[in-house]
Amino acid sequence: MMSLRPIPTCSKPSLLHSFTPFKHFTPKTQTLRPHHHVTTQSLLQYNRKPELSGETPRVVVITSGKGGVGKTTTTANVGLSLARFGFSVVSVDADVGLRNLDLLLGLENRVNYTLVEVLNGDCRLDQALVRDKRWSNFELLCISKPRSKLPLGFGGKALVWLVEALKARPEGCPDFILIDCPAGIDAGFITAITPANEAVLVTTPDITSLRDADRVTGLLECDGIRDIKMIVNRVRTDMIKGEDMMSVLDVQEMLGLSLLGMIPEDSEVIRSTNRGYPLVLNKPPTLAGLAFEQSAWRLVEQDTMKAVMVEEEPKKRGFFSFFGG
Ligand SMILES: Nc1ncnc2c1ncn2[C@@H]1O[C@H](COP(=O)(O)OP(=O)(O)OP(=O)(O)O)[C@@H](O)[C@H]1O
Ligand SMILES: [Mg+2]
Repeated sequence: MMSLRPIPTCSKPSLLHSFTPFKHFTPKTQTLRPHHHVTTQSLLQYNRKPELSGETPRVVVITSGKGGVGKTTTTANVGLSLARFGFSVVSVDADVGLRNLDLLLGLENRVNYTLVEVLNGDCRLDQALVRDKRWSNFELLCISKPRSKLPLGFGGKALVWLVEALKARPEGCPDFILIDCPAGIDAGFITAITPANEAVLVTTPDITSLRDADRVTGLLECDGIRDIKMIVNRVRTDMIKGEDMMSVLDVQEMLGLSLLGMIPEDSEVIRSTNRGYPLVLNKPPTLAGLAFEQSAWRLVEQDTMKAVMVEEEPKKRGFFSFFGG
């Protein structure tokens, strides 16, 4: 188990000392206003590689309780962002029978084997890992074939074995293992959370999603996962202002979790899902894509963000102010 570290409120080290050339990342200078505090910080931030906090591999389960709130979208976009930052990532689709992470990543035609076949001895682990051609440090592993059922006895132990096998690979242990959890809190959920030492809880700002998120938080804590951060997805500031949607601050107060990111409702997400081309690869970047990228950055550095009341926002606002810096 990874030892828990307190989450720093301001963990950013001196930017001047930590500058490293960042070959995969193009600084988004053209969209920034250098006179704005947040944007200046963002500009400097993108000129260095984020600093990995915690032991590797960091095994992170992306979960929610309620279905359809954006777990798979988060896994794909945060995973590819981490790979673009230069970290090696294995993302595991633990949604048995209803897998779709391969579709979102546009890798569906390259999945020939799954973990079930590896465990049956029908193939090697490296044959089941699908390496992304865009970012070779990103790999996908599916647990099972679509519409299949897991063999009896398949459970958390299989994923614990997987983590150990990935650690022992000749090319080295991955920095991140992201597990895309199935909806619900039944056997699939228990299997998916077993090897994890941290969790990202995805929720939308609606009462049904929040109730399920609260239940899942309790279950994660019972399983010994204390490092739980939250992503609030499909946020609509127009609805929050009209008091038709709960604010992110309300959500945070209700769940009492650290905020990793808030993602706006964005039709580009649906477009990218259907194209099998993750949002974070879009050029020019969209608001939701940037929000996922910044969430990935915070995940690396064990950083969090503060939610603010819409009414309290300063009148003059920069492009990046949505993300809270
Ligand atoms: N920020 C967003 N803006 C607009 N649409 C979104 C956003 N996030 C997710 N979606 C859409 O919501 C749908 C569900 O997303 P996704 O498959 O990631 O959810 P999930 O939690 O993995 O679902 P399941 O529980 O079935 O696995 C998808 O069609 C996706 O495009
Ligand atoms: Mg999903």
